Amino acid sequence: MSDGPISPHAGTHVPVLAEEVIHALAPVAGAVMVDGTYGGGGYARAALAVANFTLIAIDRDPEAMERAWAHAGKDPRVIPAAGRFGEIEQILHAMSRDQVDGIMLDLGVSSFQIDEAERGFSFMRDGPLDMRMEKRGPSAADAVNHLTEGELADIIHILGEEHAARRIARELVHRRRSQPFTTTLDLADVVEKALGGRRGKPTHPATRTFQALRMWVNDESGELVRALAAAERVLKPGGRLVIVTFHSIEDRIVKLFLRSRSGNDPGVSRHLPKMAKGKAPTFEVLQRKAIEPSEAETASNPRARSARLRWALRTEAPAWNVDADDGFRLPGLKQLEGVA
Ligand SMILES: C[S@@+](CC[C@H](N)C(=O)[O-])C[C@H]1O[C@@H](n2cnc3c(N)ncnc32)[C@H](O)[C@@H]1O
Repeated sequence: MSDGPISPHAGTHVPVLAEEVIHALAPVAGAVMVDGTYGGGGYARAALAVANFTLIAIDRDPEAMERAWAHAGKDPRVIPAAGRFGEIEQILHAMSRDQVDGIMLDLGVSSFQIDEAERGFSFMRDGPLDMRMEKRGPSAADAVNHLTEGELADIIHILGEEHAARRIARELVHRRRSQPFTTTLDLADVVEKALGGRRGKPTHPATRTFQALRMWVNDESGELVRALAAAERVLKPGGRLVIVTFHSIEDRIVKLFLRSRSGNDPGVSRHLPKMAKGKAPTFEVLQRKAIEPSEAETASNPRARSARLRWALRTEAPAWNVDADDGFRLPGLKQLEGVA
């Protein structure tokens, strides 16, 4: 999800493509489903309204987990489990569960996170340059103040898809020599100046740089790749994997993974998984094209603009061995360039 004008729904999170997600997840009575990105619980509530099943609510953000616990207090079908969806297998194992009937992921950040200046995700609100969903580990300020100019340029170019990444990185490194970055608006200001101002563009010039730093700080692509490989191992035959992305790199990672695992890999990427000879498909993709929000949804919720939904059914075939040469491995930053 990208930043944008201050939301008219401040203090809430309007779920994107919720109806389509619940349709794809198709929860049934007695099932065990995982919401790997609980956030504000929008998907969780919508799904629990249509069937009587157990929902494991995962989020890496402690504030989202407080909401999940409050939800669990009102609905015993909700089981909160703090952590990262990339570690879904370990989380389930710790709960003495190995297999589930469905997994839904709604990537990126929630409006709660964007709207709270203290979290440092937004270039529209002044706050500490933080961006850590988990509230631990290196922050965006650490990245901007300590990575090399080349590293910053790569991150901004590849994860932000920003053409002027080198110019921005040069300016950041030049400025931090006299005064390290500590706040969001300071960073937004320096990026804007590096790009020569707004030039009448509708989006803020710092949009792509902020997105790139957020993705790097939270290792968002790495988390997605780990979650896909884990989903293959923990979904029961007939289980459903439902993913909403907001970034072209992430949509492409999901698309290439599902192509490879459903036996439809035309070998388009040098970097991402290839279909191994003799391996049985582990997923069935019924709808090849990504589902996009309707015009009505994007009109009422501009955050939905870049959303893409893909889903698939787990087959009975055994999971592929990810350590083998034909596995789906974590692409490095440079390799992600190849899938953008
Ligand atoms: C777009 S919001 C989800 C909103 C939710 N579907 C709803 O309807 O309210 C994304 C959420 O995923 C969480 N998140 C992002 N990456 C995560 C990860 N790797 N593991 C667990 N949670 C993650 C964020 O903290 C955020 O709360």
